[in-house]
Order: sequence, then C-alpha cells, then structure tokens
Amino acid sequence: MNMDYIALENLDLSKFDDPVTRKELANKFFKALTGTGFFTVSNHGITNEQWDQQMDLAHAVMTMTPEEKKVYEVSYEDDKKGVYCGFKIAGGPGYHPKVDFYNMLLNDKVVDREVPPILKPYMPETRHIMDHVRDVVHYKLLVLLAMSLELPEKDVLSSHLPGAASSEYYRFSGYAPLTAEEKVKSRGLFMPGHADWGTFSILFSQTIAALQVLDYQTGSFKWVEHVPYALIVNIGQGLEVLTGGLYKATIHRVLTPPADQAHELRVGLFYFSRANDDYLMLPMAGSPVLKRLGLDKPLDPDNTFTATEFLEAKKHGYMKPDFDHDKPKGENHADMFRADDRYEVAKPLVSYDIKVQ
Ligand SMILES: [Fe+2]
Repeated sequence: MNMDYIALENLDLSKFDDPVTRKELANKFFKALTGTGFFTVSNHGITNEQWDQQMDLAHAVMTMTPEEKKVYEVSYEDDKKGVYCGFKIAGGPGYHPKVDFYNMLLNDKVVDREVPPILKPYMPETRHIMDHVRDVVHYKLLVLLAMSLELPEKDVLSSHLPGAASSEYYRFSGYAPLTAEEKVKSRGLFMPGHADWGTFSILFSQTIAALQVLDYQTGSFKWVEHVPYALIVNIGQGLEVLTGGLYKATIHRVLTPPADQAHELRVGLFYFSRANDDYLMLPMAGSPVLKRLGLDKPLDPDNTFTATEFLEAKKHGYMKPDFDHDKPKGENHADMFRADDRYEVAKPLVSYDIKVQ
C-alpha cells in the first residue's frame, strides 16, 4: 500500500554526552519542535530484549478477558480525582468499543497496588523501564528543552521533578479490529484529531500503522512510519503553554490500520510526562528565546492554572482544539463532563492559525 509518510527528525541520544554533539542535538530538537512537532529517538538505552519483553507484557495484559480486566478497572471516584490507574475497558461508559487502556502511575500513592497476575512477576523489569524512560530519556529531553530556550538546566528540570507529578503515567493500549459496522460508525477512526494534554508523549514505535499527524505545511494528515526499536515523541498542550505557543501541541489521530493489518490487535506502549502538580502553567520565565520572539506572555491571560488545575480544566473542554473535521455536521457535541465549577469560565483557546483542508 502506498502510504504518505511525514518526514521526522531523529534525535540520536548517543550524541548527548559530548557537549559539541549535544549542541547539534539541541538544534535538531528545536527544528523538530517548531516543525512537525513529532520526532523519533534512537540510542535511548532500552535494549531490544527489554523492548520485546515490554511489548509481550503489553500484549498479554491487553488480551486478558474483559472479566479479568474488570478486577483492575479504574473506579469512577478515582478517575474523577485524577487518579487514573488500572484499566479503562473497551465499551465502558463513554469509551471506544474496541480500545482498551491499562495505566500505571509512576508516583502511585497506593504502595504495592495489585496488578494483573500475568504482569506481577515482571513488575521489577517494568518499573525499571518506566523509570528509565522518565529519568534518562525524558530527562535528556528536558535538558535539550532548556538549551533550546537558553535557560539554565535547573530551571527546566525543577518544573518536572521526579515524584512531583501525580499524574504522569505509563500505558499499555490495545486497539482491536473493528467490525464493518463499527468502522462505518466511527468513520474509520480509533481516535479523532486531538492534542495530548501533558508535556511530552513518548511512545514505543509499533509495527501496525495507524498513527497520523497533521502536517502544518499542508493542513493534511500524514502517516507516521514505524521505525523498529525507536521511540516516537510528540508535544502535548502543557508544553505549548509553558513555551508561550513556541512549541505547539501536535494534532494527531489514530485510524484503523491499512487492510493488510486491519485484522490484528494493535498493542501500544506509552509514557506521558506532566509538570509538577503545583507548577504554574505559564511561559517559562526568563527564557531569552521566548522574550525575543515575544512569546513570554501567557497564552490565556484570564486563567492561571497549576498543572493539576490545568488537567482538570482540560477534562471540561478547556483549550480543546477541534480538528475532528470529518465529523458529520449536526452531531451532538455534548460534553460528557459536568461544567459546574470555576472551570466553566475557562475559555476555549485555540492558538493554531493553520487551515485544515
Ligand atoms: Fe494522543
């Protein structure tokens, strides 16, 4: 099948240690984040064996029966409090009929939380990978972020202290094949055009094609190509706010895979990073780059949220970009979340100036 792929920059993290090549990396980072907003990462320190084991575990967890998953389902109360840990099972209230998620918090307040028996013996290895993605890969991205904004490292690192964000998580996902009827109903989409909510979303590249990114140059969606054993990173709206709109959250969507892969279960692995819970979501103060570009002002002067409040506001539709442009007109856009608190006053904010075809 002829696929229209987007060209992505690759950040080779073996270049991180040497100050000269680290500078090159920072330039590439800037180019990627002001370009497509997506990039790949190689030499990230996860061995192929570790990678395969995590993929196998994700597959095993995603193929548990709905009854088995039910035991580890996130409760409505916890989810409402922002503690999203455990399964969201396909077909549940407001969920997609064929998409399963299993979340693990990096900073879980429940010590020794029960995990599915199939995962339990492998939790030490899984924990090691979760920590590695945060403490090595994400740490290096933050250092490059500091360099690209001409900020002291500590100013950026202190915004994402390990243990200070209660909502950063590691996710297994499973996208099961759709029936012909479901395919029509969902317009061939697993997830319509959207932006992620956090700082960076880091995903393990997977063999089954389904991810598409909005190409700002053309206004059309393009496929993200599978790169074996590479991480794929995109920008969330948190980072957009922290950089005054310099690094725009990437609009992406998940389609049903091409015909030759459409019958397979698409298993995914992700890490979503978030600023410290109490961090104020404003442009990073003192960045000479943001100042020079006139991007040191808040994107939304009427609302100053902490990271926790920002996520809560997001649940109520705050800053929701509407890029689901295939959606049939006249469909009910009812918000499934109640808007009965102070977030109701939060205006939608659209900082995109591109036109989608
Ligand atoms: Fe996403």
